[in-house]
Amino acid sequence: MRVPLIAGNWKMNTTVSEAVALVRAMRDGLGEIGGVEKVLCPPFVSLAAVAEIVKGSSVKLGAQNLFYEERGAYTGEISPPMLAELCEFVIIGHSERRNYFNENGEIVNNKVIAALKAGLKPILCIGEKLEENEAGKTEEVITGQMESSLAGIAELDGLVIAYEPVWAIGTGRAATGKQSNETISVIRRNIFRLYEAKIAQDMRILYGGSVTAANATEFMQQPEIDGALVGGASLKADEFLDIVKQTSAIKGLPRT
Ligand code: PGA
Repeated sequence: MRVPLIAGNWKMNTTVSEAVALVRAMRDGLGEIGGVEKVLCPPFVSLAAVAEIVKGSSVKLGAQNLFYEERGAYTGEISPPMLAELCEFVIIGHSERRNYFNENGEIVNNKVIAALKAGLKPILCIGEKLEENEAGKTEEVITGQMESSLAGIAELDGLVIAYEPVWAIGTGRAATGKQSNETISVIRRNIFRLYEAKIAQDMRILYGGSVTAANATEFMQQPEIDGALVGGASLKADEFLDIVKQTSAIKGLPRT
């Protein structure tokens, strides 16, 4: 059984005091929702403050990026061991990093390797651009991204994949549940081909791209979709809680 996961990617939003206010507004509500793993990904500078507030609750934390070296003269970068003291997850290969910061497959691969080595669970983002989608290249693009991101990695301990069609991110134009379910089954088949059946069956694969309280149910009703990576809607406490509640109602594992 795959435990559903909803992650909030706050991107470059919230000062430390705003992040503290936002997490305070959602911590208790999130803590009450069972059967779903809940992960908040604030900016680096707020991780410690947010960690203090969620301590002892079921809410987990993730970072939005990392550098692949452990330490040294890399001014401005944040290493995996630094993050491992603060959070459990880390988003890697988000399309905004690939597009605005020139992260290619090799960089993403190095980051995934470094995160796993530090005991962090990567949320590896993949997804096709609009022109690739329109040219019928979705499967080819995501397969290529998977092969390069996971090259040489034997153990995927805890790695989560987020399928995020680039044209759906921040545009209000989400994919349909059916479309994303189909692409996610291709992703799962790739894991089966590159690894083994058990790893493919157990791997959590999320959908991301304009998920809101209004469309969350459509995505969560899909059998292949194990949760969501939520951007804009994760900055609104009530809406994020609503998305997590819908996920729990549809996919939440029975409480024991
Ligand atoms: P969005 O972002 O929900 O604002 O489309 C999703 C993401 O980029 O992870």
